[in-house]
Amino acid sequence: MDLASSLINWYESNKRDLPWRHTQDPYKIWLSEIILQQTRVQQGLPYYEKFVSNFPTVKDFAEADIDTILHLWQGLGYYSRARNMHVAAQQVIDQYNGHFPDNYKELLSLKGVGNYTAAAIASFAFREKVATVDGNVYRVLSRVFNIEEDIASGKGQKIFTEVANQLISENQPDIFNQALMEFGAIHCTPKQPKCETCPFVQSCESRLHQIIDQRPVKLKK
Ligand code: ADE
Repeated sequence: MDLASSLINWYESNKRDLPWRHTQDPYKIWLSEIILQQTRVQQGLPYYEKFVSNFPTVKDFAEADIDTILHLWQGLGYYSRARNMHVAAQQVIDQYNGHFPDNYKELLSLKGVGNYTAAAIASFAFREKVATVDGNVYRVLSRVFNIEEDIASGKGQKIFTEVANQLISENQPDIFNQALMEFGAIHCTPKQPKCETCPFVQSCESRLHQIIDQRPVKLKK
């Protein structure tokens, strides 16, 4: 079986039940992904629920008072994320007729939406075949394929993105992306990865060389 299929099998038996995995609404996916930047899932969950119930649609969010948004954001930090979201929501209303753009390239035009967030929205909401490459993905790929490139460098990021886009499932790019990130988050963890029960242990290159603790390579800038 190929890596994508094994990974998706693993995911179906091991995934956490998280609310944003039950929606294809690009607005809610966007909300969850911005909240989860630099915030742990358990900490982000109540914020996600709070924002969805206060602002059920992107129009509600765009029309909200920025002070109300900042107040609800309290505790998450990085207030520029909330300010950018307010601008992005207004862009969706003004430039896209109230509908989130439905592809990676146009999603990048929204304030505060970078490569990762655009890929997350495009794949989870619209099933676009574009890989989401976050810290979890760097770790898993660098270990399985023993990739030595520095993940803090532009070149490294390009290489990991290319590898992820080669591996991504043709039919289930959305599930593949969730699965790869989830595998990094709960199985191939930074410390004490669960190699004994890993579906890739036989082929994991860095395990073979006993250098798992040296992957990924992240050089100080
Ligand atoms: N962290 C960032 N995006 C996530 C997602 N979609 N599911 C779980 N954790 C995440």
